[in-house]
Amino acid sequence: MNRDDENNERLLQEGLAFDQQIDERIAHGHIPDLRRTKPCDYFYNNSWRRPGYVQLDFYEQFTLIRDAISAGMSRKPQEIRVLEVGCGPGYLSLELARAGFQVTGLDLSERCIQIASKFADEDPWISERGILRYIAGDYYTCDRLDIGSYDVVVFLGALHHFQDQSKVLQRSRDLLKTGGLIVAHEPARDRITRGNAAFAHLLSTILSLNNNFYTEQALLARRSELLDKVENVFSALRYENDSGEKTQSINDNDAGYAEMYPELRSTFEQIRFEWRYSFFHEFIGGLRFDEEKNLQVAEFLKEMDRILVETEVLQGTEFFFVGRKEVKL
Ligand SMILES: C[S@@+](CC[C@H](N)C(=O)[O-])C[C@H]1O[C@@H](n2cnc3c(N)ncnc32)[C@H](O)[C@@H]1O
Repeated sequence: MNRDDENNERLLQEGLAFDQQIDERIAHGHIPDLRRTKPCDYFYNNSWRRPGYVQLDFYEQFTLIRDAISAGMSRKPQEIRVLEVGCGPGYLSLELARAGFQVTGLDLSERCIQIASKFADEDPWISERGILRYIAGDYYTCDRLDIGSYDVVVFLGALHHFQDQSKVLQRSRDLLKTGGLIVAHEPARDRITRGNAAFAHLLSTILSLNNNFYTEQALLARRSELLDKVENVFSALRYENDSGEKTQSINDNDAGYAEMYPELRSTFEQIRFEWRYSFFHEFIGGLRFDEEKNLQVAEFLKEMDRILVETEVLQGTEFFFVGRKEVKL
């Protein structure tokens, strides 16, 4: 197989993995809409499990992105063209359109785009919305994206699926108008440390003592067993299985912070950078207190997470970057 064939094969696999994932999720009652989502027990440890977690997690990401766009562009949302790359089933694009922006959501997965389009068509807020369209295709080769025509390019949990960061960011730069923004909210699994893993094991063990967590953890006390356990958690958190293989899709974790950040900085003028959270995203869907207590604990964990990252006790494992395609003089 030559390199082009190999790339095409990988893209095919990548798209199919997300086709399959979304089909399974939808079949089990998932509603990829931040305003209309419902409790969904199919998710055993994911924020989509309960609307309250969706608010804490994904809705906050949306407000962060919306506010960063508004702060970086001195125009009304209706005059701002946003491209979301790797939009999956489209919930962020939908919410940005509801905030008034003109939005294009692009994804490799045809099923994701069909589902995104269906939810957009059924949107009760359709009449108040900005223009919204979805496109199925590969970011590099899709010919329905016009060069120099976007004010903002957004990646939410998608940039780390691109192996060649120089190429994907150059493509984004080409698609942006001069003065346009790139916004990226990405996991940085290469930042997960054994300390983060030890903390995660401590927390899950304590929570599970009274069956308040989705998994049961044996109360290991021997140092060697604990070290092995921490090693397993470390791999799982990095989305690898025990053999170090990727588990979500073929291109998952193609780029870590070490690859993404230097290219973001060299391709765009940095306006904002921050570490967000370390562990709460991986935890709150797994809580098994009663419904009211679950939400209280989720809020507590989220705030503690922030503090632990700010005080550098834990390493942040997701970052938020805003950059600008600088104005030519
Ligand atoms: C981890 S998912 C994130 C989906 C969504 N942004 C979210 O946060 O739920 C990564 C997405 O990137 C898409 N993707 C990967 N490579 C792509 C490419 N070359 N062109 C367009 N989309 C791509 C995948 O199909 C997948 O839906």
